[in-house]
Amino acid sequence: MIDPGSVTVADLERDPYPIYAWLRDHAPVAYVPALDVWMVTRWADVESALNDPDRFPAHVEDSPTDEALGGVSMMTTDGEPAKQRRRPFDSTLRPRAVEATMPAVFERLCGDALDVIEEAGGGDLLTQYFEPVSVLSLAHAIGIADKVDGATLVRWFAGLAAGVSNYEKDTTKATFCSEVSAEIDAAVRPLFERTFEEPDGSMISNLVHATDGSLEERISWAMPSLKLVLLGGLQEPAHGGATIAHCLLTHPDQLDAVRSDPSLVPTAVEEGLRWTAPIGNLLRGVAPRTSLGDVDLPDGARVILVVSSANRDREIWGPTADEYDIFRPRRTHLSFATGPHYCIGHHFARAQLRTAIRMLLDRFPRLRLDPLGEVTYRGHEYRSPTSLAVDVD
Ligand code: HEM
Repeated sequence: MIDPGSVTVADLERDPYPIYAWLRDHAPVAYVPALDVWMVTRWADVESALNDPDRFPAHVEDSPTDEALGGVSMMTTDGEPAKQRRRPFDSTLRPRAVEATMPAVFERLCGDALDVIEEAGGGDLLTQYFEPVSVLSLAHAIGIADKVDGATLVRWFAGLAAGVSNYEKDTTKATFCSEVSAEIDAAVRPLFERTFEEPDGSMISNLVHATDGSLEERISWAMPSLKLVLLGGLQEPAHGGATIAHCLLTHPDQLDAVRSDPSLVPTAVEEGLRWTAPIGNLLRGVAPRTSLGDVDLPDGARVILVVSSANRDREIWGPTADEYDIFRPRRTHLSFATGPHYCIGHHFARAQLRTAIRMLLDRFPRLRLDPLGEVTYRGHEYRSPTSLAVDVD
């Protein structure tokens, strides 16, 4: 028995899945005071709400995301204003552009990081492999790879992530986020200035020319969406990568199957993203007089659509929903959402993760978990192992 009224942020961060399982069975739309939101946990409700922006708009009053990113972004607006903010990123992130520009970058970054791990005979796959590959790939796509190092990018992600998940209005998280935000503003401003004068087809150039007004007005319009791309793109592939690698290393039969048939790599990636969604819940507003299931949602309510719970709903995934199983019948998970805010970087992330997993397994035939390293998962909005120590020789 779980009382949604007494669920704490710490409970959710430690392991939200038993809480979600109980809620799916007993209170699939439940008010959780610790987050001041209604939690929606069943697949059918999450999927239908994501596809129904009239009843569940992305724009919410007092949004921690807007507060953290300095205004509304593509993710916290609806309809045409959201599309207008998405469009400038298309030419860099659509599948054909990723295929044309990124494979060699992914391979070079993976190769460099694997060299370091090989030399040491092992290391932490999260901080020494998936994170550098993830943040430096995105820096390359944005056009800031020669201006910022990997450690700074990881800190940027941490600051922005602390801000957008700050439902509880913690002042330490808010300060960290605003310090990082100021650093990002200072680092990318020269690019806005230069491409405002001389458009060059880069992501920043497309952004600054996607709207009208003075340079200052354009920067204020564009910056929240650019920070959102930084947030989504800097580290979520890394979190997904660590989860996928951990799943394979703890399921030797599935690891052997992927090694002997590399065409299973994409399936191993998708199943890891399903099993533990790197971004677990998505905030939405609620239109007046909206009900969901048996619950009439009060005016002014906010919901979180818990994709990580939907991804383990037994109604959809069967009795083994909690297990990592690359041989389960194929179907789409919700880890990149669905509907108008479907992840704009999904192809970029998938291509990067497939390369990273393939190259990791190719390089280290004896890859195994370090017996002295304990693997702990943390988080509910953002969830992944906190480290993944391996031996490789
Ligand atoms: C495994 C990695 C990733 C996961 C699991 C992920 C997940 C998601 C999810 C669940 C959403 C929907 C948010 C919502 O509806 O509230 C989303 C949106 C978004 N993602 Fe990703 N993402 C990943 C990688 C990326 C990358 C690499 C980028 C950038 C290159 C990116 C940029 C974005 C942006 C800008 C949005 C907002 C789209 C919109 O509101 O229209 N993401 N992502």
